[in-house]
Amino acid sequence: MTLYRIPVKPGAPAGIQESERALEPAAARGASSYPFGRCLPTPPRDTNRGVMAFPETRLRRFRRTPDLRRLVRETRLSPDNLVLPLFVCPGEGVANPISSMPGVFQHSVDRIVETCRETFAEGVRAVLLFGLPEYKDAEGSAAWSPDGIVQRALRALAAEVPGLVKIVDVCFCEYTDHGHCGVLHGHEVDNDATLANLARQSVSLAEAGADVIAPSDMMDGRVGAIRQALDAAGFAATPILSYAVKFASGFYGPFREAAESAPKFGDRRAYQMDPANGREAMREAALDVEEGADMLMVKPALAYLDILAALRRRFDLPLAAYHVSGEYAMLKAAAERGWIDYDRVMMESLLAIRRAGADLILTYAAREAARLLAAGWVE
Ligand code: PBG
Repeated sequence: MTLYRIPVKPGAPAGIQESERALEPAAARGASSYPFGRCLPTPPRDTNRGVMAFPETRLRRFRRTPDLRRLVRETRLSPDNLVLPLFVCPGEGVANPISSMPGVFQHSVDRIVETCRETFAEGVRAVLLFGLPEYKDAEGSAAWSPDGIVQRALRALAAEVPGLVKIVDVCFCEYTDHGHCGVLHGHEVDNDATLANLARQSVSLAEAGADVIAPSDMMDGRVGAIRQALDAAGFAATPILSYAVKFASGFYGPFREAAESAPKFGDRRAYQMDPANGREAMREAALDVEEGADMLMVKPALAYLDILAALRRRFDLPLAAYHVSGEYAMLKAAAERGWIDYDRVMMESLLAIRRAGADLILTYAAREAARLLAAGWVE
């Protein structure tokens, strides 16, 4: 029995092993090595199970059969937690395939309605809408036009697919002729001038029937500005899902083809987050909570699961994670070459995102996942 015992660090509360301690917040461990700072301490665990050594402890006992594994499975996927991102474009009967994202299209309003009807019937009851406007200008004014592309899609969906949760992306990169996420001042995005426009876009989308407002622009102070504008316009009940922790990521590459939103010069590093920064992510999230965010998002997902897990420990708001275009494209590309089993790796990816702490997952694979689950998929 003593042969395989894991050593308990001197001073550790009885029964807590190193392996468990690694999952605890820094405050509880009194350690400084935890990357993202202060958390609520969790009470010490009252179990010695992990102490019992081989041969008494055999973790394979509960792995033996599918039914035993099902019994002790800690994390589950459900279509209830999946959100499908969609791209709305002008025209009628349009379904333009996105070459780097097999299975993803730019759809005209009539085709979006059709897609959402099918999606809803398959159990995915929430979508995230992006717009490809008729015209682009320096400010992105098509974003707050009452007759804008997303506004029209919202009205059609409200009439045709009752019950569908319509989340809208609030940002300007699809609407500006320069492709940046706000108003330019020279070659820089002017933070405070952009806030007023974000507020206008949000109110316009709420008026058209958006159920959730999801700002992805990364301007400082935008959650507060949007909250204030929504409240003043009579939309106090409309929640804000903040892309609180959005990194300047290469994983957005295929999206920019889909949304026709690549910046004409430079990049987004002056407003999106540095991928190196975990503590700053906690500050971003805390500020958005203070400003009135109702839900927080981490984006991208798989490369930032540590951030997601840290947010889960610190905040009790619902958390979303965006499994972005590049993550989807990599799976599709590898599967096309026969190098991975797409269904298996896709479901494993979504499961990992849930396990790390996401309540919601925004993913282009939402319908595929829902179909697999309906067919009795077991991880
Ligand atoms: C900005 C926005 C982007 C994505 C969602 N909202 C692109 C960007 O910041 O450049 C990326 C989503 C994806 O890659 O799937 N409006």
